Amino acid sequence: MRAIQVAEFGGPEVLRPVETDVPEPGAGEVTIDVAYAGVNFAEIKARRSGYRRPILPFTPGLEVSGRVRALGPGVTDLTVGREVAAFIAGGGYAEVALAPAATVFPVPAGLSLRTAATLPTVLPTAHALIHEVGRLRAGESVLVRGAAGGVGTVVGQLANRVGDGAVYGVVSSAAKVDFALKHGYDQVFVGDDWERQLAAATGGRGVDLLLDPIGGEQLRHSLRSLAPFGRVVNFGNAGEEAPWHFGAAELGPGAWSVAFFSILTLAAERPKELREVSARAFRLVADGAVDLPVTAELPLAEAAEAHRLMESRATTGKLLLRVED
Ligand SMILES: NC(=O)c1ccc[n+]([C@@H]2O[C@H](COP(=O)([O-])OP(=O)(O)OC[C@H]3O[C@@H](n4cnc5c(N)ncnc54)[C@H](OP(=O)(O)O)[C@@H]3O)[C@@H](O)[C@H]2O)c1
Repeated sequence: MRAIQVAEFGGPEVLRPVETDVPEPGAGEVTIDVAYAGVNFAEIKARRSGYRRPILPFTPGLEVSGRVRALGPGVTDLTVGREVAAFIAGGGYAEVALAPAATVFPVPAGLSLRTAATLPTVLPTAHALIHEVGRLRAGESVLVRGAAGGVGTVVGQLANRVGDGAVYGVVSSAAKVDFALKHGYDQVFVGDDWERQLAAATGGRGVDLLLDPIGGEQLRHSLRSLAPFGRVVNFGNAGEEAPWHFGAAELGPGAWSVAFFSILTLAAERPKELREVSARAFRLVADGAVDLPVTAELPLAEAAEAHRLMESRATTGKLLLRVED
């Protein structure tokens, strides 16, 4: 089968098309004939430095849509040929992907395989950030960095549905502002100056919930933008800075909380909970309440170009690789 392989860490050029063996499902697993593979920022990190995929060579790809090809021993709730979307811990940039049955989801009625490929990573992540981990309540305000990206686009819409609290976004360029405003954000700040812009918008109060995919020193600075009893949820380290340590001295006076979220940890440790969160989140897309536009679709062989696009920080919404002919 055709697949994209990383044999050495590096730039987009290390994503090389290869011919490789079709995987066979083991106990509790299925294989999927992949129609589309979603492109995620985490795959860029894996390609650059091996984030959660330290062993070379590997095929990146956290999410696919397609049809069930074969069932491993013990899998009883899926059938061959069924249209599915799957969250996997890697291997999605390929004609056939191997997935644990626990994180394979029948495509909700009315959704295409193309739309289904956008769901498995972003939808449960965004849902968890706003609801299960962020616990956003009606009337509370939220600020989201990377507001026009895959996760940010869905987070804005979910936050907007919670109630009448302000939904603020941060993006790196003015070209992304309109896109974010169309996806749930009330106000969008551009560039590194966002703290000052937020302070002006909130009369210096700050926000109740801050969702941070950047990490490091920038996460520490974010604390200054929290209202009393505010919460910050970190869900990435796009800034690639060294981890920052929080202590009671910084958090105590504002009674602030810091939380982290990882869908990979949720999938590995609590797959049943991931299924439940995913079911809730997918339903919102099937009902038309949430929309994640595909803004770039490239053939599998052009995975390197998809990574170049995402790394350029110019993309909005979701990027997909088209795998089936
Ligand atoms: N913890 C989890 O479970 C989980 C799950 C899914 C995704 N994530 C994280 O959520 C974030 C969004 O993921 P996504 O797949 O939806 O990607 P995405 O948002 O579509 O694209 C990456 C975004 O990161 C922002 N960014 C900030 N610093 C960057 C840098 N140094 N280089 C490139 N981009 C940078 C860019 O927005 P601006 O240019 O506007 O800043 C860009 O929109 C990522 O940090 C990812 O690791 C975490």
